[in-house]
Amino acid sequence: MLMTNFLQKRKSVRNFKMDSVPRDVLENIKLLMDEMDREESGISFSLYENGKIVAEGLKGKAGYAGVMIEAPHYIALDIEDNKPLNILKGGYCLEKLNTKIVDLDIDTCWITVDNVDEDTKKAIFGENGTTIDYLIAIGYGQKKKLFDPEVTSSRLNVEEIVFAETIGQAISIETLENYGLFDVFSSVRYAPSHKNFQPWRFVLKGTDVEAYMLKSDEDNRSLIDMGVVLFYMEEMLKTVGINKKWTIDLKDAGKYYYIGYFTI
Ligand SMILES: Cc1cc2nc3c(=O)[nH]c(=O)nc-3n(C[C@H](O)[C@H](O)[C@H](O)COP(=O)(O)O)c2cc1C
Repeated sequence: MLMTNFLQKRKSVRNFKMDSVPRDVLENIKLLMDEMDREESGISFSLYENGKIVAEGLKGKAGYAGVMIEAPHYIALDIEDNKPLNILKGGYCLEKLNTKIVDLDIDTCWITVDNVDEDTKKAIFGENGTTIDYLIAIGYGQKKKLFDPEVTSSRLNVEEIVFAETIGQAISIETLENYGLFDVFSSVRYAPSHKNFQPWRFVLKGTDVEAYMLKSDEDNRSLIDMGVVLFYMEEMLKTVGINKKWTIDLKDAGKYYYIGYFTI
């Protein structure tokens, strides 16, 4: 699917049918996970096919507003060492995998389990599972009933996340359009983030686009979100003919962390 449409249409699904994902599709997902595991060091994925064990074990401990998101299967992300760079990479790679899974017509939702106690994690994920902090629930979403309210999470506007030269200094839409960046930012703002916090800020400085992360008391979670948005930026840039990878250089920058840049 075209990335622009993908981002605007994607949303977290929290009500799943309990039907299993067909075996051939699960095998396909495993291949995608293996491919990613081979490509990247410092992170790994595992598939928990028996979702019941995960859902039961995490009841009251994770989910949405205290309610566990029950799905037929879950994928766990394990980040080695919890180094900031690995956390960023974890977000980038799990969202990359997520888009491939959504492309198979499967619904998904991120679930944070970083505050779940070690004993629970061991019971669900095994002895080595205590370092698992994020899952994605996968399955088929329940059909919405006719009068169910549309659930949408609002997003910051482009003017609130993109600036000229320094954070806070307004950038004209014309400038962004001249670089082909207005559509890119209009779409990436739909990226998912923990509690919809949207910690990402961008600065156009000369021909560099710099990425920053707003500091909070949940910086590790925001680093995952940053990984997610950096992935979408690269994918969206490809749609306007710009093939760039971020150069990552994590640094303190006052109210923000400087994350990295690319040159247009
Ligand atoms: C790192 C991360 C962690 C998340 N953790 C949870 C979670 O624990 N429970 C949940 O219901 N949604 C979780 N989400 C989903 C976000 O709440 C959701 O993406 C955001 O509110 C925007 O809504 P949307 O995905 O429907 O557009 C998480 C998303 C990310 C990227």
